[in-house]
Amino acid sequence: MSDQHISNPDSLPRHVAVIMDGNGRWARRRGLPRRLGHRAGIAPVRSTVETCGKLGIDYLTLFAFSSENWSRPREEVTGLMRLFVESLRREVDELHENRVRLSFVGARERLPVNLVRLMGEAERRTAGNDGLRLIIATAYGGRWDIGQAARALAAEVAEGRRSVESIDESAVESRLALAGCPDPDLLIRTGGERRISNFLLWNLAYTELFFSETLWPDFDSAELYEAFAYFAQRKRRYGRTPEQLEVG
Ligand code: FPP
Repeated sequence: MSDQHISNPDSLPRHVAVIMDGNGRWARRRGLPRRLGHRAGIAPVRSTVETCGKLGIDYLTLFAFSSENWSRPREEVTGLMRLFVESLRREVDELHENRVRLSFVGARERLPVNLVRLMGEAERRTAGNDGLRLIIATAYGGRWDIGQAARALAAEVAEGRRSVESIDESAVESRLALAGCPDPDLLIRTGGERRISNFLLWNLAYTELFFSETLWPDFDSAELYEAFAYFAQRKRRYGRTPEQLEVG
């Protein structure tokens, strides 16, 4: 499947989420330090953003750094933070020119202050753009997200601004990091593992899953099209029977 073969744009996902796994193994197989694997992971980020923008996909959410990644060796964590700072400095102009709206989700208070400042600047600068919404999950964990939503709702109850009875699925949803975004239609995970690894636990309830053996630095747009082709032939039932779908 190439872009010439996307005959029905309605069969494309509206929101794509990606777990970019395999940078470390990519580097090790070449006898290189892990940090060079993360560096090699920038090119597929660019090509994925470009392809999603070109196809008119509304939302792309990338898992760049998980709550659990803090326990990696200190040099690796510092190297990743430096890479995020460098990439933001280098890429934001071009993203802005391409009308990409950039935002970040995760526990910002744990990130280096210079990175947090650049993140805020990029968000403010691109806030009015009407192209692809690119969401980068940094210091993010699905359990952290649900926990912080619960805390926000509990605070509203404690302050008398909300009743306990009003806490339902939509109230929780409204306090999650991706509040207001449609749930991902398609999750892509590279690197051969078949798990969610504490990514968007709440939001992935009905998401179609595409697992690839390719290590993230080798993931290219041809494979992204393969993921879209896989998605296009899925029948999404949201808990209903196949017969109900035929009628509806
Ligand atoms: C997982 O591979 C990857 C990460 C923890 C970092 C992801 C970061 C990038 C792709 C860099 C660029 C991102 C942005 C948004 C600028 P791993 O290290 O767990 O690989 P392994 O499983 O082979 O060890």
